[in-house]
Amino acid sequence: MTKEINLGGAFSLPGTGRTLNRMGYGAMQLAGPHVWGPPRDVDGAVAVLREAAAAGVNHLDTSDFYGPHVTNQIIRKALHPYPDDLVIVTKVGARRGEDKSWMPALSRQDLIDGVHDNLRNLGLDRLEVVNLRIGGVMGPSEGSLAEPLTVLAELQRQGLIRHLGVSNVRPAQLAEAQTIAKIVCVQNLYNLAHRNDDGFLDSLAAQGIAYVPFFPLGGFSPLQSTALDAAAATLEATPMQVALAWLLHRSPNILLIPGTSSVAHLRENLQAATLQIPAEVMTELNAIGGDVVA
Ligand SMILES: NC(=O)c1ccc[n+]([C@@H]2O[C@H](COP(=O)([O-])OP(=O)(O)OC[C@H]3O[C@@H](n4cnc5c(N)ncnc54)[C@H](OP(=O)(O)O)[C@@H]3O)[C@@H](O)[C@H]2O)c1
Repeated sequence: MTKEINLGGAFSLPGTGRTLNRMGYGAMQLAGPHVWGPPRDVDGAVAVLREAAAAGVNHLDTSDFYGPHVTNQIIRKALHPYPDDLVIVTKVGARRGEDKSWMPALSRQDLIDGVHDNLRNLGLDRLEVVNLRIGGVMGPSEGSLAEPLTVLAELQRQGLIRHLGVSNVRPAQLAEAQTIAKIVCVQNLYNLAHRNDDGFLDSLAAQGIAYVPFFPLGGFSPLQSTALDAAAATLEATPMQVALAWLLHRSPNILLIPGTSSVAHLRENLQAATLQIPAEVMTELNAIGGDVVA
């Protein structure tokens, strides 16, 4: 069956031969509360993934530290054997404490274990794209990423990883990374309310590198704004759809990975790819950063 695809157009990951529909899906919300343990409704989580894939989503973002292990196991249950065009992007560089905390895991052994955990739980021989996650969830940290990225570049040479990306990084860290390996994507916090990366995003667009904003809807506290609500009313869309469509209009190298545990929200989010934002509404949305609560 030919898939009906209007997922915001497509973007080719540089030098990979892989073209991703711009509307993808982030799987973190499929684990239990606080991204810990199994969800209350595993069948519901499987249904979300199958619906996304059936709609043409060919870019899934995940990590083995979601759950931990749970999200990858649900992806495998829902979609394995995977369609040829599906690109699963995972990340290493963190782990979960017994108290559900998020901790850096950047030693050589941590990274090797992280790659093997992803391979095993996703049921793959090779990971298509692995992001090295350096900073914390609310922003990049300072410092060199040379040591951990060199480990991942070795695993890439061994054939366990096809392509590399970086997450929670600053421009100088990307520049350092590019002296070690080819970087195909950057995944940082960015949405209507968090615009620190405006310049970075534009420089990545100029280099043809994908920019994948995490928390596109605001993350654990979805975006709230009277101006966003007004734009949504004008466009006869929901505020979440406008937040996603704004990102698609913002730059052609943006790939979306909104997360949801609900088929209804998934459908609503996918529909955002068809939303046209007139220039005057775009201007209003560009101006409302200070008004938005995330
Ligand atoms: N690199 C990193 O450090 C990092 C950090 C965080 C996340 N990520 C990645 O980024 C992806 C996206 O982030 P995220 O899922 O945390 O945040 P998000 O996409 O900004 O927002 C997800 C939240 O919005 C809700 N939601 C989704 N669609 C909605 C809709 N149409 N209407 C109302 N509420 C809606 C979801 O609840 P429901 O389940 O009820 O829909 C969930 O609470 C993650 O899945 C993960 O893969 C990466």
